[in-house]
Amino acid sequence: MEIQLWREILSPYRLAVDEILVKFRHLIEEYKLEGLYCPIEQVDGRVKKISSILEKVQKKNINIEEVEEKIEDIAGIRIICQFVEDIDAVVHLIEKRRDMEIKSVKDYITNMKPSGYRSYHVIVNYNVETINGTKKIPVEIQIRTLAMNFWAIIEHSLQYKYRQNMPLLIRERLSNAAAAVIAMDKEMSSIRSEIMDAQNSLRMKSKIVAEILSTIQNLYKVANKREIENIQNEFYNIYVSDDIDRLKEFNLELDVIAEGYRSQDIE
Ligand code: GTP
Ligand code: MG
Repeated sequence: MEIQLWREILSPYRLAVDEILVKFRHLIEEYKLEGLYCPIEQVDGRVKKISSILEKVQKKNINIEEVEEKIEDIAGIRIICQFVEDIDAVVHLIEKRRDMEIKSVKDYITNMKPSGYRSYHVIVNYNVETINGTKKIPVEIQIRTLAMNFWAIIEHSLQYKYRQNMPLLIRERLSNAAAAVIAMDKEMSSIRSEIMDAQNSLRMKSKIVAEILSTIQNLYKVANKREIENIQNEFYNIYVSDDIDRLKEFNLELDVIAEGYRSQDIE
């Protein structure tokens, strides 16, 4: 098939990947804005290269006319999570979406591959709008933890290096490393609530500080210099004391002060 034709075939897949990336990245932003813990650490995507498609066509004996029907990972999204528990949360999130219809799932976390590979795969149908109308695109979404991803990346590059002939010793080492990944994810899960608490209070603090600073900035326009100076000093003292409850209280007090100026405005 000609290159130009391939480009035309792949174009809606590109659109699907781009759109889904925007949507997931926006979700991360939404969690941040709300000061909430986000189950998605990072998201990436790619359209399968023509050379890789041709390789798969050969390997799986696929008729070239059936490429779009038979190859479900032309559009690929990878979602990386901090904890195994987050993977369920992400799957749930996908299930609830109205723009993605789950076609099939493969749970290589419960059922690890013989290689040691672990990941949760979801194939979804996703509609894109093209000049030729709506096109339904299958998208493979791989969901895994940071540790699982680390393993998969290393193993993939070794697979690439050795092709079909990976030395037994290396396979054994990878298998040991896979066991270590399981242990590590388990260990991380057991301290998940503590890690999340720490991350949450950090996020909470920076959210409150941002609100306080913005209120102070607004007060500059209306309050007198002396009052602003007092407020700033008080804020500084609370800030360095690292007392989050006091910081919350101060934020509310400032709101009341700002509200007072606003009501004066109206009259
Ligand atoms: P592929 O032809 O490899 O796409 O396999 P498949 O169509 O039978 O689907 P499968 O669910 O086995 O694999 C889908 C994708 O998961 C692959 O394209 C890889 O990205 C990833 N994957 C599967 N097995 C392994 C593995 O053993 N090691 C690594 N590093 N990645 C894997
Ligand atoms: Mg693949």
